[in-house]
Amino acid sequence: MAMLATTSSKRAVEIAPGVHWVGALDPQLRRFDIILKTANGTSYNAFVVRGESGVAVIDTVKENFADDFFARLESVARYDEITSIVLNHLEPDHSGALPELLRRAPQATVYLSSRAQMMLKALLKPGGEQAPEYVPVSTGDTVALGGRTLRFLHTPYLHWPDTQCTYLEEDGLLFTGDIFGCHFCDERLFNDRVGDFRFSFEYYYAQIMRPFREHVLDALELIEALDLQLIAPAHGPLLRHLPRDYVRRYRELAMPRLFNEARSEKTLVVFYLSAYGNTRQMAEAIAAGAERIAGVRVSLYDLEGGDAAIFTDFVEEADGLAFGSPTINADAVKPIWDLLSSLTSVNIKGKLGAAFGSYGWSGEAVRMIEDRLRGLKLRVPVEGLRIKLVPDAGELEQCGRLGENLARHLTGEIEHRELDLAALA
Ligand code: FEO
Repeated sequence: MAMLATTSSKRAVEIAPGVHWVGALDPQLRRFDIILKTANGTSYNAFVVRGESGVAVIDTVKENFADDFFARLESVARYDEITSIVLNHLEPDHSGALPELLRRAPQATVYLSSRAQMMLKALLKPGGEQAPEYVPVSTGDTVALGGRTLRFLHTPYLHWPDTQCTYLEEDGLLFTGDIFGCHFCDERLFNDRVGDFRFSFEYYYAQIMRPFREHVLDALELIEALDLQLIAPAHGPLLRHLPRDYVRRYRELAMPRLFNEARSEKTLVVFYLSAYGNTRQMAEAIAAGAERIAGVRVSLYDLEGGDAAIFTDFVEEADGLAFGSPTINADAVKPIWDLLSSLTSVNIKGKLGAAFGSYGWSGEAVRMIEDRLRGLKLRVPVEGLRIKLVPDAGELEQCGRLGENLARHLTGEIEHRELDLAALA
């Protein structure tokens, strides 16, 4: 196939007049960063932009693919022509070839976000290189290449603090780093030529961008205002066919999905598992207690009825999360841990957490869940409740009070106060 010759030949691929893809393909990769599945590998996209008075390299590739990157780069530019190196994101899959590129093009000025400066120094530390001449840039800053202008967009936390986008004004090309990317390897490169990659696009968003959806919405404010001819992410297909559709899809994915979020009421979701019905009784009493507080909407779910994955939307959009587990073999039960581990894929900033459970003779689960919630940076404003075996009427009242207190913290009726340790000294 002709398309195989294009990228297998280690030559650059022109994506617009004077703009080339000089990235690398990694078709054998099956897991990225240990956690992400990559069914057909991935790509590390890097680019060269040629102007009348300068040549810019935008991003590099993972270190063990540096030979491919340099071979493609050399097919369209000499090292002494490179005036600018733009770093949209410094994670090693995009900066692995950077130290060597800096050795080969020491005259180039590096442009990066202010948050990336310390990362750049850390990255160069093992080789002992001095940091190159670099310029921190932000939204609106530009670099002139002669007849071509690179303009920067400050788009942090997508998905690292350092991330930014770079817009080639005259051509309407947007280089986005990981944003709009996906782990999908196809040497035909362009979205109108590769196979169906929708599942990869959605999976990548869910795994990488979803926890930062507020930052996604901020970035979209900048991106939607641009004339877009092509979006060039750092992984996966280059989006030249209907690029704005991918922008729209990001907005859909990042917008709140549950109507509650647009309303003034707070939401509490109570999850539980129960071996003998005791933890279930506690869950019901906690939910009933919370419902007594005006302005709080309560949902109650038995995790025996579903996988953690189906609750992700609830978890993401709830204001408070309570977890009930019996203690079995000195531990909380697995579905609770599965659900807690899914919290790392959503934005949990500002949520409140609580734990409860019935136990037979040791009862460690509640403390373990609380520790995990705190470790995930949820605030745990109400002490967890452990009840030995069957809750009696008084203990169910305690559960009700826990629900009420949690709900009052959610509405702000009970104010959160940080202890000022210095003042106590
Ligand atoms: Fe593709 Fe965040 O590195």
